[in-house]
Amino acid sequence: MMKKILVWDLPVRLGHWLMAGGFALAWATGDSESWRLVHVFAGGTVTTVALFRLVWGVLGSKHARFASFVRGPRQALEYLKSLLRFSPQHYTGHNPAGGLAVMALLLLALASGASGWLTYQEMGGEWLEELHEFATGLMLAVVFVHIAGVLVGSLAHWENLPRAMITGFKRGEPGEAISGQRRFAAVLLIGWAVASAWWLAQ
Ligand code: HEM
Repeated sequence: MMKKILVWDLPVRLGHWLMAGGFALAWATGDSESWRLVHVFAGGTVTTVALFRLVWGVLGSKHARFASFVRGPRQALEYLKSLLRFSPQHYTGHNPAGGLAVMALLLLALASGASGWLTYQEMGGEWLEELHEFATGLMLAVVFVHIAGVLVGSLAHWENLPRAMITGFKRGEPGEAISGQRRFAAVLLIGWAVASAWWLAQ
């Protein structure tokens, strides 16, 4: 019996929108010398949130944990085929294809953050700057695929997935619900992201 249940805890939702906003701001300010500090702060936020998310993928609530949604390419393909057959497999948390995109985004956030910060500190050479541009370009491509996947998933399951990433509630079996918002971890996430992004921008 499907009901509205709490699926995404507060750190997952807050982290998601910090990442999405930080990425948009970092992209918009990347080419301008006078916006450099804002760029480093925004990119730093994306990176530090991604670092937090790696820890939360182990310690977080049920659907935040990597063990609950990271699957191999075979299962991702099975899911995509089920979409094409118009009988999509239902997952309460991330589906296997979405899970792969999530991992790609987190790893690319770390790669572009590390290469960008080293370039900012003038520690690397030209090649690090090129790596930074390549990683962020690839990340933008994965973001588009991610957003397209969210739209297709929303239509296929007839459920507003972006709204679920805001409220935390999705359709699912009552036994699949998580027990609480994890507010304390959300406060830690904000403190960690702001303090470390500020430190990175020094
Ligand atoms: C308007 C833009 C965006 C929308 C509407 C959106 C929407 C969503 C939704 C609905 C999910 C949950 C997918 C599911 O139900 O399985 C999700 C997950 C995710 N998105 Fe986005 N997204 C956007 C932009 C971005 C951007 C720019 C990034 C990265 C920089 C990003 C990174 C992620 C990550 C890492 C997750 C996994 C969340 C977690 O498990 O912690 N998203 N997004």
